[in-house]
Amino acid sequence: QELQMNLEQIEKGGYDHFMLKEIYEQPNVIKDTYRGRLLANQGIIQMAGVEDNLEKFLHADRILIVACGTSWHAGLVAEYVIEEFARIPVEVEYASEFRYRNPIINKNDVVIAISQSGETADTLAAIKLAKEKGAFVFGVCNVVGSSISRETNAGAYTHAGPEIGVASTKAFTTQITVLTMIALRLAKAKGTLSNSDFHRYLQELEVIPEKVAEALTSTNEKAKEIATKFKAATNCLYLGRGYNFPVALEGALKLKEISYIHAEGYPAAEMKHGPIALIDEQMPVIVIAPKQGHYDKVVSNIQEIKSRSGKIIAIVTKGDTQVKGLADHVIEIPETSDALSPLITTIPLQLLSYHIAVMRGCNVDQPRNLAKSVTVE
Ligand code: AGP
Repeated sequence: QELQMNLEQIEKGGYDHFMLKEIYEQPNVIKDTYRGRLLANQGIIQMAGVEDNLEKFLHADRILIVACGTSWHAGLVAEYVIEEFARIPVEVEYASEFRYRNPIINKNDVVIAISQSGETADTLAAIKLAKEKGAFVFGVCNVVGSSISRETNAGAYTHAGPEIGVASTKAFTTQITVLTMIALRLAKAKGTLSNSDFHRYLQELEVIPEKVAEALTSTNEKAKEIATKFKAATNCLYLGRGYNFPVALEGALKLKEISYIHAEGYPAAEMKHGPIALIDEQMPVIVIAPKQGHYDKVVSNIQEIKSRSGKIIAIVTKGDTQVKGLADHVIEIPETSDALSPLITTIPLQLLSYHIAVMRGCNVDQPRNLAKSVTVE
């Protein structure tokens, strides 16, 4: 028993939980994921699976993304970044819905399947269906030799290392890293990004690990402090716009699955179409409000919530003063461009849900009712 305990402690690298260890591994595993693929100084992005199939991507009428859970949220971020950079239409589908609705799949479609475990039954079934209908399927997996990595025509692995915590963290950010590199590579090939923008994004992506490390260091204590105030909440709203709408969904999922608090992610502007009726003094509303992303619109959403006495926790860019004057709590993160912001804005949300779950005495690494990979329907 004693030995078992010690072995686990060693495996957790001194962290209390695998999830916390994996949250703190993100700077390194993002670097591991882009190593050899992102050569910023030479203005090169190269991934064998993409290079070997570049024509298929460039001639695609559209890109369909199939995934589940957190991987589906990474797919939503990919929709924004691929459409913005490469101007190729992207549709993101829950694999479980896609596989049963006799979807329209054309020969010229490219399907991207995203899966950390590479064993998710619904995603695997969606892949098989897409291949039957003649589509080219590209996988983004974290487990070498997994079923999905073998079933897809080509792919690019994330190099996050084994993700033990059931709640996905480093898989999410490394998936976004791969998908952003794909978007940039396609944009370069299609000339839909200016050379200067292309180089700027490469440079910025290269220093993301340092910014993630800074976000981890600068937000953890604040996240813990805020967790003490909201650990007894029974409901929680996460709001974001644009690139940070998927991050709002992901933040809500993290809280739900490890602390068992009901949480919902919403596009910030969607509040006035109903959910704002939920606002009261008790419910924490987490608003992702970085400088570079529809900032003024998000500020007005914050004002709407404040005027209904909502409790606001805002994720803002370091040095922000306007939101600071409105929100009840503020977590400051390093500045990034809008397109790369999910890699940073998700960090305080991971930490916040982690601390709330720990304070609630939940089993953070193995939450009730959950499996790390849903290999059955
Ligand atoms: C996320 O924290 C959950 N563990 C879950 O939603 C997960 O993302 C989903 O089951 C998909 O798993 P996959 O990436 O291994 O396919």
